[in-house]
Amino acid sequence: MADFARVVSQYVDALAVRTFAHSLLEELVEYASIPIINALSDDAHPCQAMADMLTLAELKPDLAGLKLAFIGDGNNVAMSLAEAAALLGVEFVLACPEGYEYPEPFARAFAARFPGVELAVAHDPRAAADGADAVYTDVWASMGQEHEADSRREIFAPFQVDEELMDAARPDAVFLHCLPAHRGEEVASGVLDGPRSRVFRQAANRMYFQMALLESLVQDRSAEDRLRF
Ligand code: NVA
Repeated sequence: MADFARVVSQYVDALAVRTFAHSLLEELVEYASIPIINALSDDAHPCQAMADMLTLAELKPDLAGLKLAFIGDGNNVAMSLAEAAALLGVEFVLACPEGYEYPEPFARAFAARFPGVELAVAHDPRAAADGADAVYTDVWASMGQEHEADSRREIFAPFQVDEELMDAARPDAVFLHCLPAHRGEEVASGVLDGPRSRVFRQAANRMYFQMALLESLVQDRSAEDRLRF
């Protein structure tokens, strides 16, 4: 990986990596001379979360005071959303079945990084959605957890985002999903394809956000940087 990082740094201006182990990204960062973009790892999905803050800003430009409820497990998307929300003053709550909370190391790192910000976790999806401006969900089994899909389908069934759960949120609440979605599992078709769904606008914002991210990362890169090794 170290050799790959040094070679590819001379070929391209940035590298977006989608992988499982977060340590692989850290190794690339150590040895590459180009920006390494986390395009999803087991531990984080920052490009998704930052683009989602753009989608929320379309509801309220300064974001402050918005409430975002995430119904699912404490996965990569939830962890990055919790961090982005803490940075931007958005209230964020995760609703998950017992035993599917955030991984311990994440909860510890979050507490150290954001003292005074509660990492809110609920086990009642209705209570979490209460008063929310946006209700968000993600697949019940992430990439790499396919072998758990059957058991998770049973455990997470009460956590499906359906019309009734959306009714617990604010009357003008929107529905968000990072996609791809499984209609009839984590979200009812009527919600995903209904009037409160912003998921396709959300998907468009992923592109705009990432265009801006690339621009900000590569604009000052010189030919000498490229030929550092
Ligand atoms: N949590 C999901 C996100 C997919 C974009 C996964 O890791 O598979």
